[in-house]
Amino acid sequence: MSENIYLPRMATIQSMRPETIDVTTFRVTIDGSDGTGKFEYKSGQFAEVSVLGVGEAPISITSSPTRPEAIEFSIRRVGELTNALHELEPLDKIGIRGPFGNFFPLEEMEGQNLLIIGGGIGLAPLRSVILNVFDNRAKYGKIDIIYGARSPQDLVFTSEYKEWQAVDNTRLHLTVDRGDEEWKGNVGLVPTFLREINPSPENTISITCGPPIMIKFVIEALNELGFSSEHIITTLERRMKCGVGKCGRCNIGSKYVCLDGPVFTLKQLEEMPSD
Ligand SMILES: Cc1cc2nc3c(=O)[nH]c(=O)nc-3n(C[C@H](O)[C@H](O)[C@H](O)COP(=O)(O)OP(=O)(O)OC[C@H]3O[C@@H](n4cnc5c(N)ncnc54)[C@H](O)[C@@H]3O)c2cc1C
Ligand code: FES
Repeated sequence: MSENIYLPRMATIQSMRPETIDVTTFRVTIDGSDGTGKFEYKSGQFAEVSVLGVGEAPISITSSPTRPEAIEFSIRRVGELTNALHELEPLDKIGIRGPFGNFFPLEEMEGQNLLIIGGGIGLAPLRSVILNVFDNRAKYGKIDIIYGARSPQDLVFTSEYKEWQAVDNTRLHLTVDRGDEEWKGNVGLVPTFLREINPSPENTISITCGPPIMIKFVIEALNELGFSSEHIITTLERRMKCGVGKCGRCNIGSKYVCLDGPVFTLKQLEEMPSD
């Protein structure tokens, strides 16, 4: 009998790390396995995460497949399902379907410099890339990470920044829209900060994820800096339901974002119908 694609696998929450007032990182293991079990995924993919009796939602996998002990999701509470997830505790059960969607082409990016640009909770799928390339450090050139949030309190993964900054040939550039008395870093929007940092497009791939408005202006800035459409990789935010190309909720023209995306090069986006 074929496997039911709508049936989630049960998983156990091992820990919940608060990132901000409304974002928590859930570390989970698939039941009946040593950790991720048969849940083999690539950086950039997502899963449908569910709470029994409440529902499910697409959530990016923020851990790296190079660290198979557990799977991590960083989730902002915005509505019914995400609120229910935040009410859970370690050792509670959740459902997981997936992994779904395509992924960042890390193998094709080997030998290149990486410019990783994130905004808000959009750093979640990028963290999977960051940890993955750190675990394969010799395969990549220089790594620049530009990350921005509304305020210092909205930055996610702050407990890891020291570790990230200590990695060879890696720079983390932080910015916030509004600082406070303690904030010593940059104040300003991500696209403006990107222009100030002025990275060279030579032998460099940029990948970006964040609010659609940030992505729009980041792409504009990258174009001005001379990055080609093939070297700008981004993610598309779309409402989703099934996650497996059946319900038609997420399509743009002939493309299903849940199957063909959420990762696209700017060149691919330029070839899609605008809506
Ligand atoms: C591929 C993909 C990856 C995602 N990764 C993450 C992630 O890593 N972390 C995270 O916190 N969220 C992520 N999201 C968004 C997440 O799926 C929604 O926040 C979630 O579905 C909300 O469910 P809910 O029942 O809590 O809220 P609902 O009660 O359904 O909605 C609450 C509010 O959120 C809005 N909303 C719901 N779904 C979306 C959506 N897909 N895009 C924009 N607004 C939406 C609704 O319009 C409403 O205003 C991702 C979405 C997609 C498509
Ligand atoms: S979410 Fe159902 S087709 Fe993409």
